[in-house]
Amino acid sequence: MQIPSSIPELRLALRNRGRVVLVPTMGNLHAGHIALMKEARVHGDTVVATIFVNRLQFGPSDDFDRYPRTFTEDCERLSGAGVDLLLAPTETELYPEPQTYQVDPPAIQNQLDGEFRPGHFRGVATVVLKLFNIVQPQAALFGKKDYQQLLVLRNMTRQLALPIDVIGGETVRADDGLALSSRNSYLSAAERAEAPRLQRILRRIAAAVLAGASDFTQLERQASEELDQHGWQTDYVAIRLQADLQVPSHPAAGPLVVLAASRLGSARLIDNVEINPKKGPLTGGN
Ligand code: PAF
Repeated sequence: MQIPSSIPELRLALRNRGRVVLVPTMGNLHAGHIALMKEARVHGDTVVATIFVNRLQFGPSDDFDRYPRTFTEDCERLSGAGVDLLLAPTETELYPEPQTYQVDPPAIQNQLDGEFRPGHFRGVATVVLKLFNIVQPQAALFGKKDYQQLLVLRNMTRQLALPIDVIGGETVRADDGLALSSRNSYLSAAERAEAPRLQRILRRIAAAVLAGASDFTQLERQASEELDQHGWQTDYVAIRLQADLQVPSHPAAGPLVVLAASRLGSARLIDNVEINPKKGPLTGGN
């Protein structure tokens, strides 16, 4: 794996590389990231990973300073996964001047996660557009665990007519069902044992909806209360349309997804389960 030491060096290294597939990350890589790298290989000739903890997408009380940085281990994992090139720019290289031109996503940026993390999706869209411009890939992969992020980036790419296929990678889970996340490392042993409750509740809601439950507000409220009774502080549990993450006008309005964000100790965990009648909850790899 090549690690170009600057953006110009990366651009040189990318000449005549065929179809380039980009996998942007913030590092502290786990099996979910590695699955994205392996899938990237299927979609192109050259796989480029980036590691950059993007200050722009963190709020003032978010975990930017303590976000785990594990560059040496990350390099070993990326190289083992067959990644061709890694760009890991410094903040001054990616933001040599204040990034005053930013991508301002539409109303979706203030809903669900955006309601609790103001400015987050503006920061994500801005850095991803910048990485797209630097790498100029033909395809890019993002994990479905960040379902709203994937939607925002897919819509941005389409509306700005970027010639890039945005591909969603399935969520990878631990044996007990917990979605892998760098933020799981903030959990104590007791919290780690409690954490799989989040996906169990989401699966249960998905099963109830498939079985015909139609009072979505009640399902959401009960789930949120159950989490909070077990020591969580829930931001939201929401049943939404997969297509645009809006509230469905009626239970059969289209394919649904149930999403949640909740805090356990000092970790804010997010997860989602697509509700696909033919496949059933979770068989899509959520
Ligand atoms: O999902 C992430 O790790 C980040 O939001 C991303 C897409 C790398 C942008 O910083």
